[in-house]
Amino acid sequence: MNRAVLLATRNLGKLRELRPLFARAGIGVRDLMDAGLPESSDEDALESYSTFEENAIAKARYFFHLSGIEAVADDSGLEVAALRGEPGVRSKRWSGRADLSGMALDHANNAKLLAQLSFSDDRRARFVCAAAWVDGSGERVARGETHGRILTQPRGTLGFGYDPLFESDDLGMTFGEADGPAKEVVSHRGRAFRALLAGSPLPESGNG
Ligand code: IMP
Repeated sequence: MNRAVLLATRNLGKLRELRPLFARAGIGVRDLMDAGLPESSDEDALESYSTFEENAIAKARYFFHLSGIEAVADDSGLEVAALRGEPGVRSKRWSGRADLSGMALDHANNAKLLAQLSFSDDRRARFVCAAAWVDGSGERVARGETHGRILTQPRGTLGFGYDPLFESDDLGMTFGEADGPAKEVVSHRGRAFRALLAGSPLPESGNG
């Protein structure tokens, strides 16, 4: 491996999923801490756009200019049919709990999701991911989606975020029950990054 790409995310769940994907493609990676880039309050403003694609590009562009290292970033989230696509690009901070982070924030988001869907029979949802790559020669972005339904109770302890509530149509189990390799095959992130690495701006065909 003679390249090292900057994986521009602070999300440990995303890092866990992306490292093997890049390793299999023969591309070395550094995370933000390896690259000596501690968290800064400037990063809060990066995800201010209304599309996953614009937010992903903004993150990759910011970290490329800061570090000089070719950078990849994703912006992702959950779109729930009965909530007209919410929480969408606001998935991370949907609960409004600015005081929380990590698993505590995930729990608050999941509790809000269950509460908002408590009277709904329509449980259809999809995860969306835009994966962006920015280097000295230009910018690329690719999108991946995956479909499923929101359960009334969490199942499984793997993954992160909304995973224990999202039953994948492809897997017949929640992303909280699926191990990393199983999730990656069908996940929005797996699909987006495989398309990105293949150099294609188009999503993969199939369930997405
Ligand atoms: P981002 O850092 O703005 O892209 O926020 C993504 C948020 O969407 C996460 O914090 C999760 O709440 C949710 N999300 C995105 N991808 C996943 C996933 O693969 N599983 C579970 N939740 C996810």
